[in-house]
Amino acid sequence: MSDETHPEDPEGAGAPEWRNFYGRRAGKTMRPSQKSYLSEDLETLRPFGVTAEENPARELLDLSTVFGDARPVWLEIGFGGGEHMVHMAATYPEVGIIGCEPFINGVAMLLGKIRAAGVSNLAVHPGDVRELFDVLPEGSIAKAFLNYPDPWPKRRHHRRRFVTQDHLVPLHRALAPGAEFRVATDIPDYMRQTLEEVPKAGFLLEEHGPTAWKDWISTRYEKKALREGRVPDYATFRRL
Ligand SMILES: C[S@@+](CC[C@H](N)C(=O)[O-])C[C@H]1O[C@@H](n2cnc3c(N)ncnc32)[C@H](O)[C@@H]1O
Repeated sequence: MSDETHPEDPEGAGAPEWRNFYGRRAGKTMRPSQKSYLSEDLETLRPFGVTAEENPARELLDLSTVFGDARPVWLEIGFGGGEHMVHMAATYPEVGIIGCEPFINGVAMLLGKIRAAGVSNLAVHPGDVRELFDVLPEGSIAKAFLNYPDPWPKRRHHRRRFVTQDHLVPLHRALAPGAEFRVATDIPDYMRQTLEEVPKAGFLLEEHGPTAWKDWISTRYEKKALREGRVPDYATFRRL
């Protein structure tokens, strides 16, 4: 949580302007198998033209070229180890799911799971979701998932949370009217901010409580939260 980027060294692989990213981009050493997933699979699963290096004019993506047809496209923000994304891809083969995750060890874990599950309806942006927001056509996403976002518990860090207008306004723009936006968290104060901020960005709260969605699968962070005695909380919003 410490490698803040610097204006003169803009990590973020081509953000159009400098953006802070406070999370981790790499962790402990990867297994040789995980390195081979990254070198062999990522290039074909990565939508071309998300980074400013590849697409300095920030032309909008044509999502039908990402999945080969005009299927509905869903978005998972910060997929971690990828268990929810792969589960959703297997459950809904008629949909395409784009996942974003700047933590490269998580990307490698996802790629291993994609191989094991044999799913072919996923695309992976190994970076910040804000880069993707820049190039997603308006109304192009039919559903979005935010599972266990980084909690940033200190009050002075609350503005780093995903559920701030800086993130929610571009998310709203990318979502189609009527699209569902799901948020899961184990941090009561994160849910408080979610319930306050998401409606301000143009979403209607549909459901909120301790019962998970019927097609939910528990993620790594949820399992950790349960082991440590924290209680999952789920909210469903509808984009107006
Ligand atoms: C607490 S983890 C949860 C991971 C996973 N969703 C789960 O439930 O196990 C939050 C994840 O969000 C990712 N993340 C943070 N900021 C992000 C951003 N701007 N774009 C995409 N992912 C981000 C982090 O790298 C981290 O893996």
